Amino acid sequence: PCLPLIALDGPSGVGKSTTARRVAQALGWDYLDTGAMYRAATLALARQGVDLADRPRLERALAGLRLAQEGIRIFLDGEDVSEAIRSLEVTRNVTPVSADARVREVLVDQQRAIGKRGRWVVDGRDIGTVVFPSACCKIFLTASPEARARRRHLELAEKGDAPPLAEVLADLQRRDAADTTRAVAPLRRAADAVELDSSGMTLEQVVDWIVARHRAHP
Ligand code: C5P
Repeated sequence: PCLPLIALDGPSGVGKSTTARRVAQALGWDYLDTGAMYRAATLALARQGVDLADRPRLERALAGLRLAQEGIRIFLDGEDVSEAIRSLEVTRNVTPVSADARVREVLVDQQRAIGKRGRWVVDGRDIGTVVFPSACCKIFLTASPEARARRRHLELAEKGDAPPLAEVLADLQRRDAADTTRAVAPLRRAADAVELDSSGMTLEQVVDWIVARHRAHP
């Protein structure tokens, strides 16, 4: 039998976390943000000054990594780092950290331990392909790079400091390239995932579509 999870994968800036949170709310399920785990691990390694090339130190840091999620807050050693993990510095450094095979092994183990208890909407890049290949519902959410850049730009502008649209677009394309070409767990649609192109859709429409899809194929 399949695992009662919704696996939501897709590129950066497509609105996965907002969508996943809203779908979880609609179903009364929990939401697991695996991107936040990679970000928190990146923050932990930076704070300890761990160089990825120093394997023994990396192993020790990974062995001591204590991550927790409560609702939409993420904790590192008991400290709420929900805002700190969204910094530009973490966003830049998460690419090499999340491409590291050992980092992924450790975080995937943690994700599986969490996901096997209860019902979850899990968002990430490799949830349907690697972490939970037996998830009952797999969605691959996409949108054109331009649509994603426009949304992200608007979001940043609301917060008061948006770089030029072209810069936002370039950053998204850089992350797309890194996520899809890395050797370990590259971003790709699982063979049995349904693809939803949200370029012309509102958040509500995307959430309703996923909830309906889940209800039609429980
Ligand atoms: O989703 P978010 O942008 O917060 O994820 C941060 C980074 O973590 C992404 O750029 C991606 O490289 C990586 N990631 C990953 N596998 C996941 C989730 C995120 O490699 N399951």
